[in-house]
Amino acid sequence: MRLVLVGPPASGKGTQAAVLCERLQVPKISTGDMLRAARAAGTPLGLAADQYMAAGKLVPDEVVIGLVDERLTAEDAQAGFILDGFPRTVPQAEALAALLSRRGLALDAVLQIDVERGLLVERATLRRTDKRTGQIYHLKYNPPPPGIELEHRADDREETVAKRLDEYEAMTAALLPHYQKLNLLRRVDGVGTPAEVLARILQALGKT
Ligand code: AP5
Repeated sequence: MRLVLVGPPASGKGTQAAVLCERLQVPKISTGDMLRAARAAGTPLGLAADQYMAAGKLVPDEVVIGLVDERLTAEDAQAGFILDGFPRTVPQAEALAALLSRRGLALDAVLQIDVERGLLVERATLRRTDKRTGQIYHLKYNPPPPGIELEHRADDREETVAKRLDEYEAMTAALLPHYQKLNLLRRVDGVGTPAEVLARILQALGKT
C-alpha cells in the first residue's frame, strides 16, 4: 500500500498513521517528523527549515522533496509507505509522482481527514508528545501517563496554529482537486474517537 494522508494541522494524520503503519505493515514517513529531527540535530537543513516552521509557513518544496526522495530509497519503504504531511502542494505532488514513476510505482490512494477549524485549534494547542518515543497525546482527549517527559511543539501555540491553518487553506487545499482529478482522493470525517476515525479510514481503503 502506497498511501498519502492529507489534512489540516492537527486533524489526526500522525495519530492515524501510527496505527495504520502497524496494520498495513509499511513505514510511516512524516516530513514534519523528519524536519523536527533535522532541527534537533542542528543540521544546516534543520536550521534553515526552522525559520519556516516557527512562522507556520511551509518549508520550500525542493527541501522536502529531497528528504522524501532519499527516504523512499530505504529498504523498509520498498513494500509501501504511509506519507504523513507530504505532499502539501501541487509541485510536491507532481515531484512525488515522478519519483515513484522512476521506480515503476504509483500511489494507491490519497486519504483526506476532514475536521473543522475550531476543533483543530483545540487539538493542536493541547497536543503533547512523548519526548523519547514521539507518541502523540492530548491533554483532554488522550492524556499522557504520569512520569513521562512531554514536549509541547513550539508551532502549537495558538497564534502559530492559526497561521498554519491559513497556510493549509492557501497552499494545500489545491492538492485536493489535483488528486480528485486523478481519482485517488478518499475523504473521511475526522471527528470522533481515534478508533472511529480509523474504522472509517479502513473502510475507505477497502481494508476492513
Ligand atoms: P507537520 O508535523 O506535518 O504538521 P501538520 O500537518 O500541521 O500536522 P500535525 O502534526 O500538526 O497534526 P496531525 O494531523 O498529525 O495531528 P495529530 O495526529 O498529531 O508539519 C509541521 C511543519 O513542518 C509545517 O508547518 C511545515 O512548516 C513543515 N512541513 C512538514 N511537511 C511539509 C511539507 N510537505 N512541505 C512543506 N513544509 C512541510 O493530532 C493532533 C492532536 O489531536 C493530538 O493531540 C492527538 O492526540 C489529538 N487527536 C488526534 N485524533 C483525535 C481524535 N480523533 N479525537 C480527539 N483528539 C484527537
